[in-house]
Amino acid sequence: MIENIITSFFLGMMLVITIWIINIRRAARRKSENNETSPSEDPSSSFDKNLISYESITTKKMFYNTKETEAIQKLISILQEENYREIQNRLDSKGMRKGFACLFSGTPGTGKTETAYQIARETKRNILRVDIPKIRGMFFGEDAKKIKEVFEIYKKAMEESTLAPILLFNEADALIGKRIELGSTSRAADMDENATQNVILQEMENFSGILIATTNLPQNMDKAYERRFLYKINFEKPSKESRRNIWNTLLPDLPVELTGELAASYDFSGGQIENIARKSEVEFIISGGILLSNTVIQYCKDENENGFNTTRRIGF
Ligand SMILES: Nc1ncnc2c1ncn2[C@@H]1O[C@H](COP(=O)(O)OP(=O)(O)OP(=O)(O)O)[C@@H](O)[C@H]1O
Ligand SMILES: [Mg+2]
Repeated sequence: MIENIITSFFLGMMLVITIWIINIRRAARRKSENNETSPSEDPSSSFDKNLISYESITTKKMFYNTKETEAIQKLISILQEENYREIQNRLDSKGMRKGFACLFSGTPGTGKTETAYQIARETKRNILRVDIPKIRGMFFGEDAKKIKEVFEIYKKAMEESTLAPILLFNEADALIGKRIELGSTSRAADMDENATQNVILQEMENFSGILIATTNLPQNMDKAYERRFLYKINFEKPSKESRRNIWNTLLPDLPVELTGELAASYDFSGGQIENIARKSEVEFIISGGILLSNTVIQYCKDENENGFNTTRRIGF
């Protein structure tokens, strides 16, 4: 009898110590990832509670391929207040869920984040942007708590706003993942992760506002999310025609023959073209107002050879 009590006591102690060690290791890892100072900081400081005003968003002309253009135009039309209200009322009267969760997926630099901003600007909706790496807490149960808090803050913002704001989960793959099949040897960390995913799924199920999540890795999301995202837009790399338009918009002083050649020769993403355009602007300033075509061509070659994204050189 006494032996059983001692054994149970030891097992209990070992469990407590194991969880304690895991917590400490997890905290250290998260701390180095997030560069946060202390877990006792105000948890709401992990995301910006202030809405980004749609009026502060700079207009950017975006160029998409036909499929994306149609999907984005449709989404903008849905989110125009008049239509949005009517749709919400109709869904409500039919006892259907009113929430609009949209998933923007695609390779880096294809304009997912910028599109979310431009949609907000066009539909006059403010943005509640969630900095996801910071949502990831250090201790067991913390992530789920913070996620609930985010949805709570959004709900409050929605109630206080004339137009429902957009809840933006940028780079959502850091938050929205897959649930892990648990077995008898499951780790506590897996159980915690599953609990987090279940909370997000639940919150999305009850959601009645506008959510946009962007990701490079939609395949890493649990199947259960598929149904919860009503609109999914896949951002493809821009076509030659779109690339030419992006070049002409970002570097309007370049001869159109050159932008045509660059568009035909490099299958860059909009983000890559923007980077080259920014470098070109810097060069323009430091060289006293001159930008040579050869400099831009050299930047393209550099981006093609050294860029992280694999790009195909098509032509010359
Ligand atoms: N289709 C496009 N038309 C015009 N400009 C574009 C387009 N795509 C990207 N850009 C330019 O590239 C910049 C970066 O794009 P953005 O940050 O939206 O890409 P992203 O898809 O969110 O990338 P990531 O997956 O790396 O976060 C934009 O601000 C814009 O200037
Ligand atoms: Mg982005």
